[in-house]
Amino acid sequence: MKEILNGKELLLGVCYYPEHWTKDLWREDLKRMLDAGIEVVRVAEFAWNTVEVEEGVFDYSFWDEFLDLAEEMGMKVIMGTPTATPPAWLTKKYPEVLNCDIDGNVYHHGLRRHYNYNSLVYQKLSGRIVEAFASHYAERTCVIGWQIDNEINCETDVFYSESDSISFREYLMVKYGSLDELNKAWGTIFWNQTFTGWDEINVPRRTVQDTVNPHWQLDYIRFISDSANRWAKMQADIIRKYTKEDDFITTNGIFGHLDYQKMVNESIDFITYDSYPNFAYCLSMYDENDPIKDRKWSMNLAETRAISKVFGIMEQQSGANGWTSRMEAPTPRPGQLTLWTMQSIAHGADFVSYFRWRTATMGTEIYWHGILDYSGRDNRRLNEVKEVHEKLKALNLVAGSVYEAKVGILEDYDNLWDSEYDVWHGRVEKQSRKALFNALQKTHTPFDYVYIDGLTDASSLLAYEVLFYPHPTITDEKTVELLSEYVKAGGRLVIGCRSGYKDKTGKCVMDKLPGLFAPLTGADIPEYSLIAPDAEKVYVKWGDDEFEASVFTDILCPINGGRQLAEYTSDYYAGCGAIICNGYGMGRVFYYGSAFTEGAVRVFLKNLNVMSPYDKIISLPETMEIAVRKKDDKQYLFVLNYNKQADKITFYQNVKDIYTNQDVSGSLMINGYGTLVVEI
Ligand code: GAL
Repeated sequence: MKEILNGKELLLGVCYYPEHWTKDLWREDLKRMLDAGIEVVRVAEFAWNTVEVEEGVFDYSFWDEFLDLAEEMGMKVIMGTPTATPPAWLTKKYPEVLNCDIDGNVYHHGLRRHYNYNSLVYQKLSGRIVEAFASHYAERTCVIGWQIDNEINCETDVFYSESDSISFREYLMVKYGSLDELNKAWGTIFWNQTFTGWDEINVPRRTVQDTVNPHWQLDYIRFISDSANRWAKMQADIIRKYTKEDDFITTNGIFGHLDYQKMVNESIDFITYDSYPNFAYCLSMYDENDPIKDRKWSMNLAETRAISKVFGIMEQQSGANGWTSRMEAPTPRPGQLTLWTMQSIAHGADFVSYFRWRTATMGTEIYWHGILDYSGRDNRRLNEVKEVHEKLKALNLVAGSVYEAKVGILEDYDNLWDSEYDVWHGRVEKQSRKALFNALQKTHTPFDYVYIDGLTDASSLLAYEVLFYPHPTITDEKTVELLSEYVKAGGRLVIGCRSGYKDKTGKCVMDKLPGLFAPLTGADIPEYSLIAPDAEKVYVKWGDDEFEASVFTDILCPINGGRQLAEYTSDYYAGCGAIICNGYGMGRVFYYGSAFTEGAVRVFLKNLNVMSPYDKIISLPETMEIAVRKKDDKQYLFVLNYNKQADKITFYQNVKDIYTNQDVSGSLMINGYGTLVVEI
């Protein structure tokens, strides 16, 4: 049985840096952690030099001594591989391991993540340090699992070294086989970009307007993901040679340009997430008018859940943010540390490890606070961790349960990455992502993100009564077939504007739009436009409901059995189709010709009868979140109040408060930043 995510208990951990402190502090630190209910430490992810202080000379005594102590005291340990911070001796001798900016300028030693995944030298030396760590430490009884690297693709998710160009060419040779095929795929006839030799191709470089051919760019992002995944797999394969039966391999995320579905299929046992909701209160980022603020981290947690249904938090906010150069934020207020911990657990985390034990007294992160301040004295935040631990003892029955959602939002990496640099696509995605999240949150309608790829089957999609696929600009026959199967078997699918107009290379198709989606949606798009900046607001009328359209309008006509449900009420397309519904098998497809606003999402949820599924059990203000985790026939409902102020909720049935084991019914107040978990 794995020691964390074991389906039996919720565990607390902390990130600890023994190398930052004198050894005489270790014993007391571990004792105080254990007294506070912290049973796991994550260590060593930046500590290359503690083992290999000069090339090829290995000394294991530092971690041996620490692990001896951990074993003696009964502390469990997650070991990191230290590859996110290549040593100075290494980068000096082998400068080719360094990453570069888009102009090829080298990033030097002095921060972290300054390496590139494709340097053969770095692969070799990293493989060797991982092998050293794993072969020496994996057999220790206190070591329960491994974290690969640290935050792969954090700090930067673009790579421009010479090794990257060489490797990119190899990637393209395998993918396309010949330059002719590559030229076709990238449409290089446009602006005379035709390649006549492989060595003419590089990772994208700065151009006159700072963008390259979009099909080249899309393949470049796929290549980065591929490189990062190869990196993770190289390490996982080495570690697995040495791990004990129940030990796990994970990495902490989640970051851009990385296909985590692939990673979880080929390298890691589950994902862990680093959750820092206090970013919402960073002085430079704070948005007074944002109704969601730190609740937005529930979006990231839902993304994490799409990778592993039950997951861990490797770094959970426990103090103020701040690098010496940026990201200043206040100390979490009383209650917020608990609130953010429960937010993680509500979404599927069974392990929560705080960042970090004691705040660093040196380096870039002297202001990135942990549980304790510099002196290490007992403080309010440590007391709050102890209170969390008391709550978790009662919450253990939630372990292994799975977040319950009847609504899914489909995603895929091609469209995610395409929307990054394609401004038409990006604008609709961004608008719809926010509107869907905000409307689903405020109406207390739990949802999952669901990634689809070549391996997804219709039966897994049928767990959802309704699927939104906001803007699948890029699609292929296989995806359309998958969605058709889902709908045929009774699913309901809502697709937004700009769908089906690109193929896998990112080139536009010449079919009538929405391209491959036309037969399934019963919709035809004779005309489309961005909503003009000088236009009046555009509204959509669906029966008695009216809501605002946003960003774009596909003007729709029904074909092949499709039926017009709603029309635009303004501009030159007033009266034209805005929503087409098509019955297909036992289900239905809705093609909506615009980007989603909160109003649009609410009307879809209402008309498809999936809004607020727990409203017969509880009523609560929009400012609070609810989440339900389910195991066997038991359901655990979390209530999270992100506001400073207390507010009222009402239960319409008897429920059991898990923290206190008391029955509750009727109205009660939830404190500012308060949380409640009940069995329903
Ligand atoms: C994370 C990182 C940690 C620490 C923390 C606070 O992104 O994994 O090592 O840097 O942020 O900045």
